[in-house]
Amino acid sequence: MRIGITGATGLIGGALASELAGRSHEVVALTRRAGAPDGLPAGVRSAQWNPGGDGADAGLVGVLEELDALVHLAGEPVGKRWTPARKRAIRESRVGGTKTLVAALGAAGNRPARFLAASAVGYYGPRGDEELAEDAPPGTDFLAEVCTEWEDASAGARQGGIETVLMRIGVVLSPRGGALATMLPPFRMGVGGRIGSGRQWMPWIHLADVVAAMVHLLEAPAGSLEPVYNLTAPNPVNNADFTSALGGALRRPTIFPVPGFGMRLAFGEMADALLLSGQRVVPRRLVASGFEFRHPEIGPALMDLVGN
Ligand SMILES: NC(=O)c1ccc[n+]([C@@H]2O[C@H](COP(=O)([O-])OP(=O)(O)OC[C@H]3O[C@@H](n4cnc5c(N)ncnc54)[C@H](OP(=O)(O)O)[C@@H]3O)[C@@H](O)[C@H]2O)c1
Repeated sequence: MRIGITGATGLIGGALASELAGRSHEVVALTRRAGAPDGLPAGVRSAQWNPGGDGADAGLVGVLEELDALVHLAGEPVGKRWTPARKRAIRESRVGGTKTLVAALGAAGNRPARFLAASAVGYYGPRGDEELAEDAPPGTDFLAEVCTEWEDASAGARQGGIETVLMRIGVVLSPRGGALATMLPPFRMGVGGRIGSGRQWMPWIHLADVVAAMVHLLEAPAGSLEPVYNLTAPNPVNNADFTSALGGALRRPTIFPVPGFGMRLAFGEMADALLLSGQRVVPRRLVASGFEFRHPEIGPALMDLVGN
C-alpha cells in the first residue's frame, strides 16, 4: 500500500513510518517543513503541507490522490505548560489542520480507501475509577472539548466514502520522547516518586504496541473496522503502581512523592488535566478484533523500554 502519514517526524509517526517501510509499504511523510526533514526512515519520501492552509491546495490534493491510506497524527505538543497561545495552538493545529486535510480529501478525485485519525484518551476527561470503553461519553474539560472537535472534524472524511477510524491514543511510553522521557531524569537520579495521591489512572501503551495497533487497523480487511478504537494497554495502572514499576525497572527508589500543589505551580492547568487526573481506559474493540498486545503488563513493558 502507499500510505501517507502527517506527523511522521514525531514520536509515534516516526516509529510507524519505519515499521511500515520495513513491511514493504510505500510511505509518504506529510510535513510542514520545507525539504526532506532529518531523521525520516530510509525509503520514506516527504511532501510539504500547510495545516493552516487551504484544503483546495492542488499540491496537497495531488499527494492525497496517490494514497491508498492516510494516517493523521500531526498536532501541537500538549505536554508543556498551557499558556493561552499554546492552548490556541493545541486546538487549532488539530481542529483546523484536520479540516484542511478533510477538505483536501473531499476535493480529491481518487481518494485513499482508509483514514486513521489520531484522537486521545483526553476525550473522556478526568473520570476517577470508572472503566472507559469506546462507547463512554466525552468529558467536558479543555482536552475533552478539543478531542471532541478534532474527532468531529476527522469524521467528516466519512462523507467522502472513506473508511474512517478514530484512534483514542493513551500515554505512549518510549524513552525517546513523550511522558516517559520527561520522567526518566529524576527517576534515574533516585528522586522520582508518585504524583499527588498516586490514585489517578494512567492509560499507558508501549510505543511498539501503538504502532502494531495502527498497522493492524491499516491492514484489516475493507469494511471490517469500527468507527472508534481505544489504543491503550489492556491493563491500565494508577500512578502509584506505575511509579513502583518504573523504580523497579530502573532499580531506583521512588520515595519522593511530588505534591499536587508543586505540579500546579510548575505546570498550571496542564497539571490537573494530564498529571493529577487520568482515565481508566480499556481497549475493548482492539481486543475483540483479535489484536494481541506484545506488552500488556506495565512491569515487563517498562523493563523492555528502560530496564537495567
Ligand atoms: N505521544 C502520546 O503519548 C500521545 C497520547 C495521546 C495522543 N497522542 C496524539 O498522537 C499524535 C502524535 O503524537 P506524537 O507524540 O507522535 O506527537 P509529536 O512527537 O509531538 O509529533 C507530532 C507532529 O505533529 C507536527 N506538528 C507539531 N506541531 C504542530 C502544529 N502546531 N501544527 C501542525 N502540526 C504540528 C510535527 O510534524 P511536522 O513538523 O513534520 O509537520 C510533529 O512531528 C498527536 O496528535 C498527539 O496528540 C499522542
